[in-house]
Amino acid sequence: MGVESTRILAEIYSEAFKNMPEQKWGFSELFELFSIRETISFVICLDAKPIGFALLRILADEGEIITFCILPKWCNNGYGKILLERIVDILKKRSIKKLFLEVRENNKVAIKLYNNCSFKVIGRRKKYYKNNQAEKIDALVMQYQFIK
Ligand SMILES: CC(C)(COP(=O)(O)OP(=O)(O)OC[C@H]1O[C@@H](n2cnc3c(N)ncnc32)[C@H](O)[C@@H]1OP(=O)(O)O)[C@@H](O)C(=O)NCCC(=O)NCCS
Repeated sequence: MGVESTRILAEIYSEAFKNMPEQKWGFSELFELFSIRETISFVICLDAKPIGFALLRILADEGEIITFCILPKWCNNGYGKILLERIVDILKKRSIKKLFLEVRENNKVAIKLYNNCSFKVIGRRKKYYKNNQAEKIDALVMQYQFIK
């Protein structure tokens, strides 16, 4: 991922996560992540303009979604589902067996999206995320199982 593309994705990230205090990746952090060999990025575009993206880490036959976002103005239009289904399809062809992610237990929209795409809750990390009020929130660990 080049400098200009990273800048565009950093803007999308900043807009999408602006109400989530612990999500602090800026340009440099994203640029560093893109330079790691195991990181794969998927970008969804509308009229040739990026409106969202996902970053994954792939190790052997397992993947982890490390971030996933859609620009707020395009949310609730099914674009998250389109992107996630496409990712699952591509990983299937690469013989990935399991795909994991973590999500705040109060992130209803994201949990709905992951449920819609057949991810199942397999665990919980207690008080994993910080809230604005310094209160801590559990993370749900979810998994997509490619081979039933
Ligand atoms: C989570 C996110 C990626 C979803 O993207 P999206 O394009 O809006 O997703 P979709 O439109 O495909 O699906 C959203 C689903 O949530 C549902 N939804 C919307 N508001 C909801 C609410 N308050 N409670 C429950 N479900 C809700 C929608 O109806 C839709 O479900 P449906 O298709 O069954 O009707 C996007 O909201 C986002 O970027 N959020 C900020 C960053 C974030 O939280 N990322 C995930 C980190 S784990």
